[in-house]
Amino acid sequence: MKTLIVYGTRWGNTADIAKKIGEVIINNGNTVEIVDAKKTLPKVDSYDLVVIGSGISMGKWTKETLEFLKANAAKLRDKKTAFFVSCGLILREGGVEKTQEDYLAKVADTYELQPVDFGAFGGCIDFNGNYGILGSLFVKSSKNKCRKIGIDTTKRYDFRNWADISKWAEKVAVDAKT
Ligand SMILES: Cc1cc2nc3c(=O)[nH]c(=O)nc-3n(C[C@H](O)[C@H](O)[C@H](O)COP(=O)(O)O)c2cc1C
Repeated sequence: MKTLIVYGTRWGNTADIAKKIGEVIINNGNTVEIVDAKKTLPKVDSYDLVVIGSGISMGKWTKETLEFLKANAAKLRDKKTAFFVSCGLILREGGVEKTQEDYLAKVADTYELQPVDFGAFGGCIDFNGNYGILGSLFVKSSKNKCRKIGIDTTKRYDFRNWADISKWAEKVAVDAKT
């Protein structure tokens, strides 16, 4: 199975997730090309499976991933696709379901796509990082919420679960063949 993975990232965290997904899909006997949505993207025609994912900021995928979906929606409807996101929402109670609804199913509906799988993953936040004026407000409010649930907010918090990401990629490799 020829696989294309397109990812959108603002601070680099989703790039590592895309890489991990790619490794697992390769290990399942497929070929994989991983491309940052900001770069020139290959034509989707020759791929059997297209995996698309993004980090979330202010409730949104990156603009380049959405542009990719818009430009390729018609072709993607005839292919196997899988969507994933890296976000903070999953940390909340019921967050995985909410992430599936708000950040995955809604995007799939917008482009009238029916991905074989949705992956809701965590990400990273540097509570002392510089994210601009609006970003800092978000990080400040997250910091308070995270502190309340016992997270050490004095340092960068990496809540990407590599075992979950690998398990999901294994499932995608199987589901895309059925
Ligand atoms: C400024 C800022 C805004 C964010 N906004 C959201 C958000 O609206 N919803 C959410 O679930 N996570 C949000 N997050 C968490 C990110 O989605 C998470 O850090 C993710 O790993 C970022 O991926 P990237 O580095 O690949 O862009 C935000 C993080 C930052 C720093």
